[in-house]
Amino acid sequence: MSRKAPAYVTTPIYYVNDRPHIGHAYTTTLCDVWARAMRLDGRDVFFLTGTDEHGVKVEKSAQERGITPQALADENSAEFRKVMTTFGLTNDDFIRTTEPRHESQVKLFVKRLLASGDIYLGEFEGWYDEGQEEYVTDTRAKDLEFKSPISGRPLVRAKEHNYYFRLSAYQARLEAFFAANPGFVRPAGRFNEVLGRMREGLQDVPVTRTNFTWGIGMPGAPEHVIYVWIDALFNYATALGLGEPDGALAKERAKYWPPEYHVIGKEILWFHAVIWPALLMALDLPTPRCIYAHSFWISNGQKMSKSLGNFVDLPTIESYIAKYGLDAWRWYMTTQGPLGATDADFSPRHFHEIYTANLVNTFANCASRTSAMIEKYFGGVMPTGETASMPISAVEGAPTWSAFTSDAATKVIGHYADFELAEAADAALAVVRAVDAIINETQPFKLAKDPTRMDEVARILSACAEGVRVAAVLLTPIMPTKCSEVLAAYGSMVATDGDMIEAARWGGLKAGGRIAKCAPFMRVDAPVA
Ligand code: MSP
Repeated sequence: MSRKAPAYVTTPIYYVNDRPHIGHAYTTTLCDVWARAMRLDGRDVFFLTGTDEHGVKVEKSAQERGITPQALADENSAEFRKVMTTFGLTNDDFIRTTEPRHESQVKLFVKRLLASGDIYLGEFEGWYDEGQEEYVTDTRAKDLEFKSPISGRPLVRAKEHNYYFRLSAYQARLEAFFAANPGFVRPAGRFNEVLGRMREGLQDVPVTRTNFTWGIGMPGAPEHVIYVWIDALFNYATALGLGEPDGALAKERAKYWPPEYHVIGKEILWFHAVIWPALLMALDLPTPRCIYAHSFWISNGQKMSKSLGNFVDLPTIESYIAKYGLDAWRWYMTTQGPLGATDADFSPRHFHEIYTANLVNTFANCASRTSAMIEKYFGGVMPTGETASMPISAVEGAPTWSAFTSDAATKVIGHYADFELAEAADAALAVVRAVDAIINETQPFKLAKDPTRMDEVARILSACAEGVRVAAVLLTPIMPTKCSEVLAAYGSMVATDGDMIEAARWGGLKAGGRIAKCAPFMRVDAPVA
């Protein structure tokens, strides 16, 4: 049984008019690392991803291919789902917006909003970004010189008879909510960005369209189709059954609400940070704790785009996995990605350098050196040696191994929980670095030449082995396969859910246990061409 509060983490649901690429793989991998870490830390996690299947873009792409929108959605959604399996992602559900369970609940939500007066029928004229399927305010349109900030294409003047959501009525509540929750949007720079735009004044937003048919019909007025963004945002709630609070699904899953993290890319922040909480306020549902909007992967300094054809697509990702392994890919995503406010450049050379420096020369080298010396001097058997009270170095005031690793474990878990994933990785790797440092400082391979010093060698190497084990436990959420390989070679149990702190406690390896030689990452000659 879980000791701590249930946790809910989500990715955006991905458009089916596109094929999976690094952007989708990135967000989903981050959520997977978080979900695995929180499960290991004893939380009952629900991790959701899925596909966004309605809207004009899907309708158009399907038309171009001469197939029905549903056929296109089925095909590409399956592709996304396959990616989850290829990447070993641990999502608990995969929601599709064309599923009856989603459609029926969206209608129920919309009916409630009609009844409360939060949705009304009205007329609207304004500047429209066709690529984004989004209206922009007059002020913003002027600032943007009447061009889409995403596609660069001109904004068009559009007029519609539509249903609207009374977003303007939530201005004061949203501002108060932002003031009370400075961590609601992360990273911090994005929080200020949204707040600034919000202070320009909120306009009501259309929630239906009449210019296409591929979507969920408006209850009572089927000629109006629910706008794809409203339809899509609700996925986070329909997956837990919240549209039917007395239904079987809600009974099982409502406990996960509200989400701890909605992880998204920066381009869809407005919908998540402003429209979504307002919709939830209107429905009297608790708001998410944090919208984490990461920046973008770019390619050799340039934005990835279909027209430039420089997307790191699925076959490219697969070539990295074939060469370096899935865990190396996860390591690179987690530690080098654009989780902060700036974009990150994806380059084959940088990937190669990080792989070699962190995984081959640090993690694998340490695991393999330690196991090789134990093999050589102790026949592959964990030597006897009291290590808990041993300092990690001869430097004055150095902490003991048990204090150092317990502090590292607390830090690592704290970073995971706070979605500081690169920091979590670094704090875990610090344990490996400490093991490396003690090997370099004490040079057990030299001491071992003197038979009278074998007790010392035994003590050093058992500390090293235990250090490698602790690091492997802490790195498990990022590199599950390689870490279990190392743990198995070291004769240690893999960390199980709810067990991270316990598993990371100093002293897990017992004298007399078998330590097999292992080298979790092998040198790779040259970057992916
Ligand atoms: N369907 C909407 C989301 C609805 S959520 C209620 C959508 N889909 S999308 O297929 O375009 O996916 C967008 C998401 O993909 C981004 O928010 C981000 O998570 C990811 N990425 C797409 N390109 C990216 C990069 N170049 N870099 C990093 N991630 C980016 O928008």
